[in-house]
Amino acid sequence: MTAYSFVDHAYDVVVVGAGGSGLRAALGCAQAGLKTACVSKVFPTRSHTVAAQGGISASLGNMGQDDWRWHMYDTVKGSDWLGDQDAIEYLVRNAPAAVYELEHWGVPFSRTDQGKIYQRAFGGMTRNFGEAPIQRTCAAADRTGHAILHTLYGQSLKHSVEFFIEYFALDLIMDEGVCRGVTAWKLDDGTLHRFSAQTVILATGGYGRAYFSCTSAHTCTGDGGGMVLRAGLPLQDMEFVQFHPTGIYGAGVLITEGVRGEGGYLTNSEGERFMERYAPSAKDLASRDVVSRSMTIEIREGRGVGPNKDHIFLHLDHLDPKIIHERLPGITESAKVFANVDVTKEPIPVLPTVHYNMGGIPTNYHGEVLTKVGDDPDAVVPGLMAVGEAACVSVHGANRLGSNSLTDLVVFGRAAGLRAGEMLKAGDRLREPKPEWTERHLARFDKFRNASGSEPTAKLRAEMQRIMQDDCAVFRTAETMREGVDKIAEVFNKTPQIRVTDRGMIWNTDLVETLEFDNLISQAAVTVNGALNREESRGAHAREDFKDRDDANWMKHTLTWFDDATGKVTIDYRPVHTYTLSNDIAYIQPKARVY
Ligand code: FUM
Repeated sequence: MTAYSFVDHAYDVVVVGAGGSGLRAALGCAQAGLKTACVSKVFPTRSHTVAAQGGISASLGNMGQDDWRWHMYDTVKGSDWLGDQDAIEYLVRNAPAAVYELEHWGVPFSRTDQGKIYQRAFGGMTRNFGEAPIQRTCAAADRTGHAILHTLYGQSLKHSVEFFIEYFALDLIMDEGVCRGVTAWKLDDGTLHRFSAQTVILATGGYGRAYFSCTSAHTCTGDGGGMVLRAGLPLQDMEFVQFHPTGIYGAGVLITEGVRGEGGYLTNSEGERFMERYAPSAKDLASRDVVSRSMTIEIREGRGVGPNKDHIFLHLDHLDPKIIHERLPGITESAKVFANVDVTKEPIPVLPTVHYNMGGIPTNYHGEVLTKVGDDPDAVVPGLMAVGEAACVSVHGANRLGSNSLTDLVVFGRAAGLRAGEMLKAGDRLREPKPEWTERHLARFDKFRNASGSEPTAKLRAEMQRIMQDDCAVFRTAETMREGVDKIAEVFNKTPQIRVTDRGMIWNTDLVETLEFDNLISQAAVTVNGALNREESRGAHAREDFKDRDDANWMKHTLTWFDDATGKVTIDYRPVHTYTLSNDIAYIQPKARVY
């Protein structure tokens, strides 16, 4: 192995990832007086949060009466009762304060005529426990994530968070079950870095790029999830992958649900507003799993549009162009660039596209990472926290409601900062790093850097993405998923023959993509294995061979471990929290979902 040396750093907290949750967590830690570093493989304002369009949910009640209990009911129902209700109560109760905090920090929210924060309708958001749609999603036109990310970056700089930009995180430094830091590779000069810290917070986003067609940025390679699996820790509920109903056909680029919130609707080849049949009450604003399935059925039954009848139309050509201009400028541009459509005159061709991972690193609502030790399903991993899409708190359960993601980022980013502030003492002594803590990190890095086999990374990645797209899709059967399990294992088994052509240490994108692929393939494996294992339909996991939700046997979280030497996936479970956080609301009992 080539000899490598580390540049050493010591911090109270190291946050990995600079999207909405990472920046909010870093900011909170810095505000608590902790010396805080934020390590990111991209420039912070290029993190994937920048792509969030439609808005952030909070029961502000600016467009009519609202109540956090209604928001809680919708989130529990949207999760198909897999969400942990203590965490959901924490999310919805803290959402309004989190939004006002963003407003005060400078997020330029759109406004009502009275000057209040504008809120739009989004799927599954209702008033009075499901009675009728409500406008709860706070929007900055259709560039809400962009506005939030830039504001949080400015605030983080103001509070002296120290940024390590274009540093690619390699692995967690683990010492007998305790996380003591993280290693990273500085992409522009090739140096390797060892960050010692009292706590590492993973805010590395989702792993949408395990699929062929997704709304996620190319950087969404689940690097935190990959590191957690290599540290011998489990991921949770990875079988639940959300398809957003309206990715632009052929490009996958997101067209916000806010379009339907502003009055847009879907039609099939007969010009029919088919959602009226599938969800007579919520119609086009049913939750995403329902809309994606309905679209897929329409296409399968021959009512898709286009020469191949393989997509659906999204109309906003009936809306007032002034509204489109004011509230939907971003998607107007995306539709023109990626589909050559003038949205004021023609419908946008759309298709359900992978958008979000409900599963991730298991945490409690303070952001502390959990694992199962003996009979304890909630054992905290000392020194390790996770937030944002990388984490599974679990507030989204089997299906996330649109606009609950930005809320999750800032509420739990803030919670992690508060927890770190409570638990850590600024400047506490850190253990002297031992070489054996990082031997595996260097061995893996060196193995891929010098990989001289016959399989280019891009080829293996394309194989993985196709398999996931075909065999772990909107509708699933044991047959397709078993094929998926076997084929993903075959791809994993080819990694010893991987080929990296660039041996350099500086801007070696070939090696970056290989390390990212390695993070993705383990998560693809636990996803498809978890999906095959769960013999019921719940939320985004729709099985044709087990069509019903089965609360008697499957009201539980899946935990999956991955052996990176053999590719073996091990499965166990954690109970769903069937209790709330306070006596202000009782546990919401499971019932059939009616739309
Ligand atoms: O449709 C959207 O604007 C996406 C929002 C979300 O995923 O929360």
